[in-house]
Amino acid sequence: MFPEIDSPALLIESAVLERNLVGMQQLAHQFKVRLRPHIKTHKMPMLAQRQIDSGARGIAVAKLSEAEVMARHGLTDIQIANQIVGEQKIARLRELAEKVRVSCTVDNADNVRELSNAFAEASAPLDLLIEIDTGLHRCGLSDPDQAIELARLIATCPGVRLSGIMTHAGHAYATVGDPERRRAIAREEGEMMVAMAARLKAAGHEVDTVSVGSTPTARDVVRVPGITELRVGNYIFNDMIQVALDVATIADCALSVLTTVISVPSKDRAVIDAGSKALSLDLGAHGSEAVTGYGRIVGRDALLARLSEEHGSVSHSGESFRVGNRLRIIPNHACAAVNLYDRAYLIREGKVAEELKISARGCLT
Ligand SMILES: Cc1ncc(COP(=O)(O)O)c(C=O)c1O
Repeated sequence: MFPEIDSPALLIESAVLERNLVGMQQLAHQFKVRLRPHIKTHKMPMLAQRQIDSGARGIAVAKLSEAEVMARHGLTDIQIANQIVGEQKIARLRELAEKVRVSCTVDNADNVRELSNAFAEASAPLDLLIEIDTGLHRCGLSDPDQAIELARLIATCPGVRLSGIMTHAGHAYATVGDPERRRAIAREEGEMMVAMAARLKAAGHEVDTVSVGSTPTARDVVRVPGITELRVGNYIFNDMIQVALDVATIADCALSVLTTVISVPSKDRAVIDAGSKALSLDLGAHGSEAVTGYGRIVGRDALLARLSEEHGSVSHSGESFRVGNRLRIIPNHACAAVNLYDRAYLIREGKVAEELKISARGCLT
């Protein structure tokens, strides 16, 4: 399998990726919401551009440095779905905002004042989204009175402007085996956000954007009237966590790791050259630890039972593995796996069609 590529390597099935990409765009279109794909999953400007070309309004990123990379590659509408805190980062944000349309998230008055001071003399105000906690209990406000108070502060501060509210229902990842609970979380996510937007509007604030999203909740939250923006990331590749959640099937998984069997120490065990440096040790975000093993070995009845840094230990009964065999592993968490590679190989009709640079990998700051 792909002798021209050394292993471990990251492969992307072009046809599956296209199907995922177009499917989510159609869903957003059907429910008349703007799609803003989160590029934390693929970290590749070329795929971000592909998402824009198929109808997305802009992109979301998790890190300022991801935004800087995407802007350098020609992406012009970037939402940093995260708080930007501290002098150094805010100076970088100010510089970025001179070049592209950028917004960020806030949930704290001191942070709003800090951003306002830095942007008071800017050529255009910085768009802010108040982050709402709809149950993940990470960042965000859940009390409408606190959100109104923050909106009031934004209205009085020079250099900043309220553009809307955002949330991420990441707690839906903890619903493996309970799809009803996942759907209920999606409805709560949407309904809480729409109610919050109504409270803010009643208090005299403009709320242009009501941004929600996670891949597990996307198909349900998008149906809640009043949502304006869907911010999803993982859907472009899917992974074993989405399969465990019953959100995707194996056939929907576009990303895999190409690996080589390097040892067959016994008749029920083989060792591959993909360990934690190639797959990550991720067993699922936000308590979703319901995946079996460290990834799914495509087409084999075998368990990737243990990883050390450079080795993966495969347990099986009755499969035949030989040194030199090549296997493909669907990672548990695609976003974490992508972050480990400099490049990915796009596979089209069984052939390596293109090498893609993962330009925003390792963006920490
Ligand atoms: C703030 C925020 N928005 C959107 C997403 C996208 O979620 P998903 O990858 O489940 O689509 C994430 C993912 O971590 C996130 O943290």
